[in-house]
Amino acid sequence: KTVDVAVVGATGAVGETMIEILEQRNFPVGKLYALASERSAGKTLRFKGKTVTIENLAEFDFSKVSIGLFSAGGSISAEYAPKAAAAGCVVIDNTSHFRRDQDIPLVVPEVNPEAIGGYKTRGIIANPNCSTIQMLVALKPIRDAVGLTRINVATYQAVSGTGKEAIDELAGQTARLLNGKAAEPSVYPKQIAFNVLPHIDTFQDNGYTREEMKMVWETQKIFDDESILVNPTCVRVPVFFGHSEAVHIETVDPITATEARELLAAAPGICVLDKHEDGGYPTAVTDSAGHDDVFVGRIREDISHPRGLNLWVVSDNVRKGAALNSVQIAERLLQDHL
Ligand code: A2P
Repeated sequence: KTVDVAVVGATGAVGETMIEILEQRNFPVGKLYALASERSAGKTLRFKGKTVTIENLAEFDFSKVSIGLFSAGGSISAEYAPKAAAAGCVVIDNTSHFRRDQDIPLVVPEVNPEAIGGYKTRGIIANPNCSTIQMLVALKPIRDAVGLTRINVATYQAVSGTGKEAIDELAGQTARLLNGKAAEPSVYPKQIAFNVLPHIDTFQDNGYTREEMKMVWETQKIFDDESILVNPTCVRVPVFFGHSEAVHIETVDPITATEARELLAAAPGICVLDKHEDGGYPTAVTDSAGHDDVFVGRIREDISHPRGLNLWVVSDNVRKGAALNSVQIAERLLQDHL
C-alpha cells in the first residue's frame, strides 16, 4: 500500500532531509506534497526522479494526505497541525509545540514505540528534541539492564539545529573573519565562528535554558519516569552538522564499561566506536554527519562514583535528531496503525 504525504517546511534544513530520507528508505509515498511559505510556492524540488512543485501551506487541503511531517517552526505547527489532524491527516511534528502535552505521544522508535498508538486522541505525534533523541537511544539499553537514576550531560550542538539561516551565519562569519573583517552576529547573540556559546533557546526563571529543560522534560516523558534526574548544559559550537554529548550517568545497579559496550553494540540504531587509541572515538564531522546511527565512544567507568558511567554520544542532528526519527515514526505508524 502507498500513502500520500505532506512535508511542511519542505525548503528548510530538516524538511529537505525528510524528503531525501523518504526516498532513501523507500517509504511507500503515493503522492508527495511539498509545502512551505508563499515565498517558496511555485519553486520546485526533486523526489524519486520527478519534479515536485512547492505549494503554499496556507492554501493546502490536508484531507488529501494521510501523513503530515511538520518542520516549519512551533507557531506554524500550533496553527496548522490541529487543522491537518481535523482533516484526517496524522501529524508527526518536529517542533517543541506539542511535546509536553500529556495526550500527545513523544516518540523515539528505538525507545518507546508503544507510545505511538496514543496518536488517536489528537491525531498528532511529537518528535523529540534532537539532543534528547540521541541521548536516549544510547541510554535505553543501559537503563533496561541496570536502571538509571541521574543524567549529567553537556552538549556540543551544531548550528544546523537552528536552521538554514544559522548555517549561512557560521559560513559567512568564518569567511569574513578569515578575510580580516568583523563577524557581524545576527542569528546568534554572539559570534559563533571560532567560538562556543553556552546558550540554546530562551532563558528560564531557574537559570537553565529552554533547550536544557527540554532534555529534562522529554527524558522523563519518553522513559515514562519522572524520578529520573537530568542536569543538562546545552552549548552551541561552530559545527555545521552533528551534535556531540558528554553524558555522565548514575545507574541503580553497577555496570562495567565492558558490559555497557557489549549492550550498546547489540542495540538497534547504535554504532560503538570505542578504541583506546588516537582517533578511536566518533566525531560529529568525520562519523555522524550524513549517517543514521547514534555513535557512542569514550565508554568508561566514572572514577568519582561507584555507579557512574561516562559516554560520548554523537549523531547527525538533522537526520536521527529530526528528519530520520520522524520518518521512522511514520514507518511504525504505517506498519501498526494505518
Ligand atoms: P520558506 O522557505 O518558504 O520560508 P529552517 O528551519 O531551515 O529555517 O526552515 C524553515 C522552514 O519553514 C522553511 O521550509 C520555511 O519555508 C518554512 N516556513 C517558515 N515560515 C512559514 C510559513 N509562514 N508558512 C509555511 N512555511 C513556513
